Amino acid sequence: MEIETVGVVGAGQMGSGIAHVMALAGYRVLLNDISEAQLSKAKGLIDRNIGRQVSRGKVSEDDHKAALARITATTRLADLGSADLIIESATERETVKQAIFEDLLPHLQPHTILTSNTSSISITRLASRTDRPERFMGFHFMNPVPVMELVELIRGIATDDATFQACRKVVERLGKTPAMAEDFPAFIVNRILIPMINEAVYTLYEGVGSVQSIDRSLKLGANHPMGPLELADFIGLDTCLAIMNVLHDGLADTKYRPCPLLVKYVEAGWLGRKTQRGFYDYRGDTPVPTR
Ligand code: CAA
Repeated sequence: MEIETVGVVGAGQMGSGIAHVMALAGYRVLLNDISEAQLSKAKGLIDRNIGRQVSRGKVSEDDHKAALARITATTRLADLGSADLIIESATERETVKQAIFEDLLPHLQPHTILTSNTSSISITRLASRTDRPERFMGFHFMNPVPVMELVELIRGIATDDATFQACRKVVERLGKTPAMAEDFPAFIVNRILIPMINEAVYTLYEGVGSVQSIDRSLKLGANHPMGPLELADFIGLDTCLAIMNVLHDGLADTKYRPCPLLVKYVEAGWLGRKTQRGFYDYRGDTPVPTR
């Protein structure tokens, strides 16, 4: 089946990035969020980020305009009824995601493929609450979506091959590369990346290194583009903690226990870049370590 129209639920960091790349690849995009303010923020962000690609000569000004014109923003889930593919990209909480799917189902066409950009929640369990577990799968983008080349495609236990192939074709049309992952907690990227970040927080907690020396060590000693604490702030400390909890609960192994210091930062509401404070304080001109 041909996918022409893509519905994106949630216009946060990931949802707006997904709308951006879909529109540039020629898909009609229906971008939904419960908040009108969030939708207008997302439209501004997409405009600026495509503008950045124009200024680097990667996208033409005509394609920039055409991409923006392909995006329709709406606060009504019912408006996503004409989509051939839905990518749910709301808050990483299972109850929120389930409620969205429940509200969406009466409006969908029978052929519509439902997917979630979840970074760790069971695809099989999300799918089982819908009327189409065979046309449901995980469609997991990396942040920043316009830059990162990988998309993890996760089949639930019931996902059929036509659904997987249709999603694979979309990833290829985006110019990205798919990686097939089985439906186990946190899939591949986050199964490896987030415990590494958690270990970096333990390294800080136990006083082995300072924020700066930990980040410097991994950047210069392992050629990572960002240090693990800087990356944690970029991803969001609440998201990192949520993923550690999914690993801990789902695999029942103490090696996945979240570092108490990570929990403390989340309790403080210091969630990283999005709240201007995490392992670094972003309120000034240059980030300053908070410990
Ligand atoms: N939209 C469009 N383009 C963007 C962008 C955005 N939001 N952010 C950065 N870019 C572009 C820049 O324009 C620049 O383009 P050119 O190469 O054409 O010059 C390029 O990306 C590099 O950006 P910068 O020069 O500004 O900055 P940088 O060199 O420091 O790179 C980075 C920034 C790409 C974010 C890099 O630091 C990096 O790769 N960091 C690691 C990111 C990572 O690990 N992401 C995965 C997180 S895990 C995840 O997402 C999964 C999950 O579920 C939690």
